[in-house]
Formats: sequence, structure tokens, C-alpha cells
Amino acid sequence: MKILGISAHYHDSAAALVVDGVPIAAVQEERLSRRKNDASFPLGAIEWCLDRAGLEPADLDAVVFYERSMLKFDRTLTSTLRAFPRSWRSFPSAIKNMLGEKVWARGIIASYLGVPRDRILFTAHHAAHAAAAFLTAPTKRAAILTADGVGEWATLTVGHGERTADGRTAITLLREIKYPHSLGMLYSTVTAYLGFAVNEDEYKVMGLAAYGRPAYADQVRKVVRRTADGAFTLDLDYFDFHTTAKRSYSSRFLDLFGPARNPYEPIDVGTPEGRRFADIAASVQAVLEEILVDIARSLRRETGLADLCIGGGVALNSVANARILNESGFDRVFVPPAPGDAGCSLGAALYADRIYFRQPDRDVPDHPFWGPVIDPGELARAATEDGQSLEELDDPALLERVADDLAAGRVVGWLDGACEFGPRALGHRSILAAPQPAAMRDRLNRDIKFREEFRPFAPVVPIEYAHRLFDLPPGGASLARFMSGVFPVRPEWRERLAAVTHVDGTARVQTLERAMAPRLYDLLEAYGRRTGLPVLLNTSFNLAGEPIVARAVEGYLTFRRCGIDVLVAGNAVVTKRVAAPAASIKEYA
Ligand SMILES: [Fe+2]
Repeated sequence: MKILGISAHYHDSAAALVVDGVPIAAVQEERLSRRKNDASFPLGAIEWCLDRAGLEPADLDAVVFYERSMLKFDRTLTSTLRAFPRSWRSFPSAIKNMLGEKVWARGIIASYLGVPRDRILFTAHHAAHAAAAFLTAPTKRAAILTADGVGEWATLTVGHGERTADGRTAITLLREIKYPHSLGMLYSTVTAYLGFAVNEDEYKVMGLAAYGRPAYADQVRKVVRRTADGAFTLDLDYFDFHTTAKRSYSSRFLDLFGPARNPYEPIDVGTPEGRRFADIAASVQAVLEEILVDIARSLRRETGLADLCIGGGVALNSVANARILNESGFDRVFVPPAPGDAGCSLGAALYADRIYFRQPDRDVPDHPFWGPVIDPGELARAATEDGQSLEELDDPALLERVADDLAAGRVVGWLDGACEFGPRALGHRSILAAPQPAAMRDRLNRDIKFREEFRPFAPVVPIEYAHRLFDLPPGGASLARFMSGVFPVRPEWRERLAAVTHVDGTARVQTLERAMAPRLYDLLEAYGRRTGLPVLLNTSFNLAGEPIVARAVEGYLTFRRCGIDVLVAGNAVVTKRVAAPAASIKEYA
């Protein structure tokens, strides 16, 4: 069976293609359109997925949309009416948005793709999150926890999944928490209050939290209250997201926490005001962790299962994931590389395959590399035309050469094979650098990523070596496979890993198995032979505000616009000539 999954129209659109139960291709629209978090209907991603498999839309057995649009319309209408008359201003824009795009998803899909309407299916949004988490994890039975801002009505669900020996698959939902009570909305509200972009900069709140103390935790607990049944409820007096699209927090929220941050002023945690913002970030982070650990702990008791799969945007909170692993009683915690809405395209397709069409169970390869593949020839052409020096080296020579560069303090752009699906660079679209000098972090922030100082960089390390450097609990190395957990750097290594150790002594480490990205693994070993430490700083290959590069030519243009010294695509290596003039986008677009 050939099934296309689509997520679109909210945030970070994507398409994924599943053939005979296994993913063939999956990509976010932003990687192709080059518009960060592109939410438009993912025509480019769909076309690319179909091309990759040599299919036409008519060949598809089903197209699955990642939410039930009518239910979502119902939620928007109902919550708008319930908040009436406070919400009358938000009414026209909310309804227009729904009428314009979401409720007519079936018609849009049918007309864009030319597939019969009866081949278009819909999954519940959190079912897609649950499937993306459970059906891609290397486990046969697991508890499932999903949490995000909102889908149709659900904002958090708990349940369990099973893949039985006779090839059947079941995903059972036990309970859900409904909009407007939402941990995602709580976190996004604080994200907005702290002057960051909602649905994009939540990880900045997590980074900032490490600089503060949870001094406002009691205030946060007033805003989000625990209920007797172990759930939680938001006190809506503190919020405005359900009544207006303009601002997510209310004036009572400001009375409780003080004035919001001006987004145009930098945060200086050395000032009382900067500390207040860091403390508020630390407080919401602490309360979020508390609630998630609690819910996970009771899910563990209720199901008795050893494994937990977490999905939904909240699963990008790798500090919370590590606490869930440490404190909830589950032996293993799995988070997919794309737990957010983009990953729902894959989740929706897998859900339709296993549950709706009852196709036999299949193992899904445990890696994130489902996107466009690098063409090293493209880099060679661009570099040659641009007058840059290009070398083509076989793998052993290339790895030795690049390890020398890294050991000499050079920053390397690393393009290899297929693009990652999801927000993180896990070894195929990375900027790599020495992990030791703290000055490297500052240089990357200043000359390459153009971003705030308080955001940490992450290390990548061969899995066999990880325990020596990082304090990983049982199950920690597997949670760190896709950078989904934050763990302490062992104190004796913090100085030698200064560029990748956060202010609180932790790191969002990626533990690399050779089979997942063999060339990066071999590079780590070559670097380790030179420095005694097989660890590299690994950050996504993009500049601030831009999507991660997909094609070699995009990598090349980024390389020419920032302080990357050496660029590698497949077996092609380009070393920057300092005096060369900057290349223009137009030349290669
Ligand atoms: Fe979601």
C-alpha cells in the first residue's frame, strides 16, 4: 500500500510517504521552500516524496491529513462563542482562517493532487502524534504520552500501544485533557511573555531557564492548577489566547509576574530584570517537568509497561524528557526525531497503514534521514564557478583531513546523504567544531549562527564513549539518540567540553551509533585520535531565522555568508579563501 501523510496549515507543514508499511521519504516544506516553519499546503514536499518513490498521485491508495478538520472547526467556533463577548474581536479572523483552509482540507487535497475524495482520510491529531512516537520506536509494547499546544480539542493524551506477534497493531487512548487546558499553551504563553516567537522559540525559554532559579514556581502553580484526578487546569483569568489572537497572557498575568520583556532588548542575566526573566523561565520549566513526571508516573503504575513513547511538541523539551526518564519509573523513554506537528505527516500515514487498513506490522528503520539527498557535484560546480579551491578525497583521506581541520580549531560545514526529518541536525546537515574552548561557543554565536549567548550548543559522541563523559542514567544513551534528553556532563570533563556544556553543567548530547551515520562516527574517532576526546560540537547547518539547508548549493551559499572555514559534501571539500568576495544568492538560485 502507498500512503501519503500530510500536515499543514498550522505550523511547519510536511509530507511523508509510506510504502508497504515503511517510510520511503519525509520532508518539511520549509526545507524546500526555504521559508522557516512554512505552514502552507506542502505541495513541494508532496511532489518531492512522490518523485523519490517514482509515483504519481493516482498511484496512492490513500492520502491522510493529520487532523480532523471539522472537529478543529468545532473547537474554534465553540471556544470563540463561549468566550463571547470578550472574544468578539478575534471572531472574524479565527473563522476566516478555518473557513479559508482547514475545514476544506478534503477539497484542497483533492484539487491539488487530483486524487478521488474517497481516498482522502483524516486522523485525530493526537493519534498522529501517538503513531509517530510509538510506531517508529524500537519497542513492541509501550505506554504513550502526547502533549502539545492543541490539536482539535485534545492537548494531552495518555494511552498505550501494542504490536503483537501475529502482526496486528493497536493504539489505545486512555484519557485526554482538552483545550484550553494545555501545557503547550502555558509554555507558549511564557515564551511570548519573555519576548520570543511562539511555536518557534520555546527552546530559548528552556535554555534561559538554566540561568535562573524557580523563584516564581508558586505563581506558576496558581496559573496551572493540579486537579484531584492527577490532571491540571489553566486558570483562564491569566490567559487571553482563547479570546484573542493578539496576546496570549492577560493583565492578571502581568500583575503576577511583572511587565513582559521587550523583544528588542537583549537579555542580560547579570541585571535584576534579566534575572527575573531567567527565574520565570526556570519556574515554568520546573512546573512543566513536575506535571509531566507526575502524569508519566501514574501512567507507569496504570499500564505496568517498561517503555514510554512521548510525542507532540512538548516532547521537544529535552530537559523534561530526561526528568521523565529519571523519575517516572519507565526503563526506556523514546522520542522520535520529529515529535512535533511536522512528524504528524509520518504518524498519520503509519496510523492509516497499521490501524485503518490493518496492514501487517513492520519495523521502521530507527533513523531520521528521510529527506533530500546531497548532490556533491552541485557543490563542486558552485565552488569552481566561484573560484574557491575544491578537493575530491576518498573517505579515509577526507576524514583525516577534516579531523585535522577540526583539531586546528576550524569550523566545518558537514553535508552527508539524506536530510534529517525534524528540527534537529543529527549528523547529515551539521556545523561541526571543537567542543573544548568556550571561545568556540562565542565565535559560533557571533560569526556563524548570529544568535543569543544563552543558547547552548550540543555535543555528539560515539555511544560507546558517552558514559565516560556524561552522567547518563539507565536508558539515557537511548533517549540521547535523537538529542531528546539533557544530561549532566561529568564534572571532571566540563572544562574540556566548555563549548558544549550549559551554564548548569548539562548538555543535550547526541549518542551516535556507527550504523546511523558512519561517516560522522568515523570522523569522531579520527578527531579523538588527535585530541584524546572523540566529541564534537554539533549544531544545525543554518543561520538564525533560516531553515536547515537541504541541498549542497544551499550549504555552499550559507558557507559563503558566515564564518564556516571548511565545507564538506560527500567527498567534495571546499576550504574558504579568505579574500574571495561574497557569493550572491542570485548566482545559484
Ligand atoms: Fe500537535
